[in-house]
Amino acid sequence: MTEVPDYLLKRSKDRRTVLEGGTPTGDAPASKEVAKAATSSAAPALPAEVAPPPPPKPDPAYVVAAKTRKKIPYWAMATLSLLPVWAFMYLLAVSPQEREASGPMAVGEAAYSACASCHGAAGQGGAGRVLHEGEVLKTFPHIEDMLNFVYTGSQPFVSAGLVVYGDPSREGGAHAPLSYNGNAMPSQGEKWGGGLTDYEILGVVCHERYAIGGADPKSEQWAAEYATWCSEDSEIFAALEAGTVNFDTLAETFKMLETAPRPVGTEPRPAGK
Ligand code: HEC
Repeated sequence: MTEVPDYLLKRSKDRRTVLEGGTPTGDAPASKEVAKAATSSAAPALPAEVAPPPPPKPDPAYVVAAKTRKKIPYWAMATLSLLPVWAFMYLLAVSPQEREASGPMAVGEAAYSACASCHGAAGQGGAGRVLHEGEVLKTFPHIEDMLNFVYTGSQPFVSAGLVVYGDPSREGGAHAPLSYNGNAMPSQGEKWGGGLTDYEILGVVCHERYAIGGADPKSEQWAAEYATWCSEDSEIFAALEAGTVNFDTLAETFKMLETAPRPVGTEPRPAGK
């Protein structure tokens, strides 16, 4: 059996120690070199002398002020954090309440958008007749006759052989159906193919008489009509809206009213006196 020489054994032992991170014990030239390489890669040499850190710059005046001013105490934070909520509630409380659009005038204002294309936004006329400045009131001194005409439109009047709609002794001349550049007023009521319900027709007629046509709801001439048909307290409007009456039945149902309604009807008919 061959003896391994001692110096070889020591070299191998040193080598293993270096690989495991230790320092070799011996002074074999090969081991020294390996050890030196290992230490130098693990920790770079320190500079001979470390420069002292520069003295901190004094804070500018505004930083000093910020650091020394009085702070909000922590116990006040809970209250302060509720400020936005409080501001929101305040705004809600002081902003005016939007009123629900209801009643004949509000319903009529909304429905008039279907008429404005022909009659103009202010009733000044266009493809349809002029309604403003009292014109429509001259044609229809009674609201019932206007409701009837808006329900049927022009064509049923022509078909029924009626030569006039509205007041036959109208100031400025009676209006014959299809007399305005030959244009027809389209039917609004369901029976004649129109898309508005009876209460919407009442609403839009109220709008055309009182908001566009120039009738003053407070005047002696119009106060009673306004109260009966177009005010928010109008029982007729409420009943039409609830569907308990229609244009054919309302005159009979409300004949006990102080200003008893004339018949409206859904068939074309001459205006009442
Ligand atoms: C397509 C156009 C058109 C639209 C939309 C229209 N109209 Fe008319 N309207 C006319 C024409 C045209 C006349 C004239 C009728 C005739 O000579 O037969 C008229 C006449 C009238 C009159 C009679 C005025 C008068 O003094 O002689 C009233 C009231 C009226 N329209 C109300 C309405 C209402 C309410 C609506 C909306 C729901 C409406 N119109 C939508 C074209 C229109």
